[in-house]
Amino acid sequence: VIYEKLVIHPQLCYILNIMKKIKVNLGERSYDILIGSGAVDRLPGIIRSMRFSGPVVVITDKNVAKKTGRITAPVLKKLSNDILEIVVPASERSKSLEVFRRTAEKVSKGTRKHRPLIIAVGGGVVGDLAGFVASTYRRGVPFIQVPTTLLAQVDSSVGGKVGIDLPHAKNLIGSFYQPNAVLMDPRFLKTLPARQVLSGLAEVIKYGIIANPKFFDFLEKNIAGIRSLDMKKLEKVIFECAAIKARVVEKDEFDLKDIRIALNFGHTLGHAIESASGYSDRYNHGESIAVGMILAGEIAKQLDMFTGGELDRMKSLMKKAGLPAKIEGVQAAKILASHKYDKKFTGGANRFVLPGRIGKVFVVEDVPGALIRDTLREYVR
Ligand SMILES: NC(=O)c1ccc[n+]([C@@H]2O[C@H](COP(=O)([O-])OP(=O)(O)OC[C@H]3O[C@@H](n4cnc5c(N)ncnc54)[C@H](O)[C@@H]3O)[C@@H](O)[C@H]2O)c1
Repeated sequence: VIYEKLVIHPQLCYILNIMKKIKVNLGERSYDILIGSGAVDRLPGIIRSMRFSGPVVVITDKNVAKKTGRITAPVLKKLSNDILEIVVPASERSKSLEVFRRTAEKVSKGTRKHRPLIIAVGGGVVGDLAGFVASTYRRGVPFIQVPTTLLAQVDSSVGGKVGIDLPHAKNLIGSFYQPNAVLMDPRFLKTLPARQVLSGLAEVIKYGIIANPKFFDFLEKNIAGIRSLDMKKLEKVIFECAAIKARVVEKDEFDLKDIRIALNFGHTLGHAIESASGYSDRYNHGESIAVGMILAGEIAKQLDMFTGGELDRMKSLMKKAGLPAKIEGVQAAKILASHKYDKKFTGGANRFVLPGRIGKVFVVEDVPGALIRDTLREYVR
């Protein structure tokens, strides 16, 4: 592995506090992702290298403020900038117009006439909300992501999609806004509740299915170690996933070329499950996506484009990862109604990302409504 251009042993990197680095090449919007224990300690140096001396606004949520302060407080203390901390409720409901308005107002009143730097310290909810505030406040201010969940590290903090939900569907309001840097520190994951680790694992498995069969094999062999938070394995997982996402985003930053859409595998029905369950605790994002991927695999099998054997491999890995394979307590009719708001759908035609084999997905349009309905009914208890 290349660690900042030197090829050296991972253990030595750990001791020397050398980070794995991924550059996201997007012209003038390019930025670095640093991955490794201690990545967040690089924050003061990065802010200095940006020549930023204005106020810093840290947006976080209640749980993160409580659980990760031990890691972040000493780093923030080293900044010479004025710091304003805004703590939002720890819930998907924080990705709402109301919390967005309150947060933007606090930023405005707390930083007065200055252009602030916004730092998101938290999971995907905080990253999406804070990024949307950063992209809109004063038509855009500098932004750094410090993701603290597995899901945010492997997925949501990379690629620049930021936004909030409307009550009837997720992520309908948002923008593309690249951060200036992303600091992925696996130490944060030690306090993450087990269910949140599982949730991130769904997205991790997604990368194997959409882009890298060898990585899928690695997951099959190492899933137990990853689940038990083996730091070296986690670092590899975060690095591989962030690299896949970075390469996809480089080819299709604005989601216009049917390339980035691959990242949406499992999300059409997954988002619909989340929305139909009222963004409640019944299914979190990753759990919904896990079922969404299995449903997509099942639909692909029924369309004769994916083998039963590969679908079984997918199901078996999900099971070993501890992810759900069925839907309980959410009505199929509600999920069906909600999936029609999927942002991929155009001109009334549906569009699904379906697997052709492990490592390759395709965009399929006009999947028969009856097939979607019957598949859903089979998986809803
Ligand atoms: N922008 C994108 O490209 C993108 C991609 C995927 C998902 N998302 C979005 O991400 C969101 C889900 O993100 P998530 O799964 O990270 O959820 P989350 O942000 O709600 O975090 C999950 C829970 O873990 C807590 N938490 C976070 N870090 C912690 C830590 N280190 N220790 C202890 N507790 C911690 C949070 O307070 C929260 O209760 C969804 O809104 C989804 O739409 C966005």
